[in-house]
Amino acid sequence: MTEETNPLYYADYLELDKILGSQHPKSGNSTDEMLFIVIHQAYELWFKQIIHELDAVRGIFDTDNVQDNAGEMSIAVHKLKRVVKILEVLNRQVDILETMTPMDFLEFRNLLLPSSGFQSMQFRLIEAKLGLKMDQRYKANYYKNTRPGGFNQQDYGTINQVEEEATLKGLVIKWAERTPFFDESLWREYQSSYPIESGTQKFWSDYKQMYQSSLSKNEQGRLDELEQVFYKEGLGEFSVDAMRAVLFIMLYRNLPIFQTPFDLLTTLIDIDELLSQWRYKHMLMARRMIGVRVGTGGTSGAGYLEGALRQHYIFKELTEVTTFLIERSRLPDLPNAVKEKMSFNSK
Ligand code: HEM
Repeated sequence: MTEETNPLYYADYLELDKILGSQHPKSGNSTDEMLFIVIHQAYELWFKQIIHELDAVRGIFDTDNVQDNAGEMSIAVHKLKRVVKILEVLNRQVDILETMTPMDFLEFRNLLLPSSGFQSMQFRLIEAKLGLKMDQRYKANYYKNTRPGGFNQQDYGTINQVEEEATLKGLVIKWAERTPFFDESLWREYQSSYPIESGTQKFWSDYKQMYQSSLSKNEQGRLDELEQVFYKEGLGEFSVDAMRAVLFIMLYRNLPIFQTPFDLLTTLIDIDELLSQWRYKHMLMARRMIGVRVGTGGTSGAGYLEGALRQHYIFKELTEVTTFLIERSRLPDLPNAVKEKMSFNSK
């Protein structure tokens, strides 16, 4: 049949029969339970879109040579900014559900046992794809099991599989490690402000002194932290090289070549911040609806949610970099070779 005889119909294209035929309140005709279902379904649809975007971004970074010049990095950042916008909407949705009162919720709450948003497989995939690891979870033993209130076998298997894949965080770390900012050949003309510490790259030899002189008397102890993070061990999952690249991008973000990488780093921080805002709003909503009763999913309820809120930051290393910034006026001028040469990830 041609399109003329069978033109595409809105409801068919969107398969609305399936979507709009999928709300079945257990308590009969309660508008509150209808709202509860619709909100959760809307969340899951947006989770689906977030996963799509994250997969595309991981695809871009999952190579040894992200072509910043070819615009791939800007595409990645654009997609992550879309995730930010979606998360903003998801945060606002909590307000709609809060128009339901605790008494309204009590009408059908027990009918939901032992199911819970805790079983949202897509939420777990988002966390896993971003880079939240098992050993970083609050009460990891609550998470991922097939007991009642846990996951069914299929979802459990999918989560396990995705947890084996490269995470966005891991890929961003590798990208940062590959940046060629500190090749010795680029720093020949660099004028050091302080005596060079032997065996230390010129800029980093200077930075230690610059940072120290920027600290007030009662903050001198931070120098040890700087050494730990940027000279010896790195921080969390970030190696010394990755941390150095991130700090350098943040310090010199005004250089045109650094604008997209800077945008990338701040967008990852935005995502972490919005996810934690969601955890906070969701925790307050849970407290308001069920007080300190245990959750339908079998955790301690608001107590668990508070722990997850505190602990489940994914890109915390990026926010910690700001501890080690110095004022722009103290920053040394970069050698021309560094300014001119930088083309991302050319090995
Ligand atoms: C009346 C509203 C809600 C209440 C009282 C509530 C309560 C809870 C509680 C107590 C938990 C901890 C797990 C448990 O033992 O059940 C939880 C987890 C969760 N809920 Fe909700 N929830 C509500 C609405 C929502 C909505 C609309 C979503 C959207 C998808 C959602 C998604 C989640 C997720 C993803 C988790 C796991 C969080 C984590 O492990 O960090 N919840 N919820």
